[in-house]
Amino acid sequence: MMDVKKIREDFPIYQNEPALVYLDSAASALKVKPVIEAIDHYYETLGVNVHRGTYDLTYEATELYEKARQKVAAFIHAETDEIIFTRGTTSSLNTIALAYRDLLKPGDEIITSELEHHSSLLPWMMAAQKTKAELKYIPLTKTGRITVESFKKVLTDRTKIVAITYISNVLGYQTPIKEIIALAHEKGAIVILDAAQAASHIAIDVKDLNVDYLAFSGHKMFGPTGIGVLYGKKALLNQLEPVEYGGEMADQVFQTHATWKETPIKFEAGTPIISGAIGLAAAVDYIQTHNLEQMQAYTLKLRDKIVNDLKAIEGITIYNPDAEIATITFNVDGVHPHDIATFLDQDKISVRAGHHCAQLVSHFLNVQSTLRVSLHIYNDERDGNLLVESIRRAVAFFSGFTKESL
Ligand code: ALA
Repeated sequence: MMDVKKIREDFPIYQNEPALVYLDSAASALKVKPVIEAIDHYYETLGVNVHRGTYDLTYEATELYEKARQKVAAFIHAETDEIIFTRGTTSSLNTIALAYRDLLKPGDEIITSELEHHSSLLPWMMAAQKTKAELKYIPLTKTGRITVESFKKVLTDRTKIVAITYISNVLGYQTPIKEIIALAHEKGAIVILDAAQAASHIAIDVKDLNVDYLAFSGHKMFGPTGIGVLYGKKALLNQLEPVEYGGEMADQVFQTHATWKETPIKFEAGTPIISGAIGLAAAVDYIQTHNLEQMQAYTLKLRDKIVNDLKAIEGITIYNPDAEIATITFNVDGVHPHDIATFLDQDKISVRAGHHCAQLVSHFLNVQSTLRVSLHIYNDERDGNLLVESIRRAVAFFSGFTKESL
């Protein structure tokens, strides 16, 4: 179904690190050649600023930058001027929380969940502290899922903001977001979706979801680090004040006051991340030539095989065998995840260990940390087999230690 050998030729890291078993795509996906080439091309042939200049090179750079915006907009079914380039999901989500902070008042309610990445949680926690709004958590099911029913339990007439994840970065669970958005809107609340883990795995259609704001990062979808997207409905963005001030976003500046350009430029103070946007557009192209549904079917099948093989090893707890994306989060009885990850690294196997910047998920699971394997289209059955074999050896190795010998 997927010609992984051919796909790997698109990812230069495999030429440089042929033995690499990369299983940490949820942290950052590997970078694809057309992205690197697009960035190089910009720096080698243009390398100038956008929007501000009055010469050929800058017109060309501006055209590339704005074409990137169009491409990203089409990718998520948005209008072009609803796409703001940021430095990543974190910056996108902070922008919205800062912009809404001044609009919240004591007694207002913000709904979030224990599944959130800190980027989706902390900006609202701080906004709640500052404004005396109440932060409310959607009760999770036993396995850690958000359901429409549990959402209804916290939704009230005082709900002003719903800030939740589309797909959990730890458990890979997909939130039933369309129904949640419809219910939130009935109460007049605004919904902000963290789509960092969704963007390279499932098709996103902001119009169909009717979501108010949505954020994702380039680097999790084979694109560059340092570029992200904030989508916002135009009517809402038009009402918001910018949170950063600087060059180009201002329209008229006087000694005592200033006016702002239209969105999205209003939210892009300073020289934008030009090469990042151009690289991101190349990443979108790459994903579109590969078909998200096929990619998803392939990685989930691979996930199922790894889950089955891991289940055969004694002492392994898998927390999310039925996640909607190919993320496997687990622990090995009696061994710290960092020890396993370090052991795997000796076999050139890269996984993530820790709380994954989502400490409330660790609290929910009642563990300090977990191991996380996250797959993408460049992974194959051999990667899975090497992982399982290495874990088998790690379990045997660490079981040789008794409490007394440590
Ligand atoms: N948010 C990224 C992760 O889940 C870094 O690993």
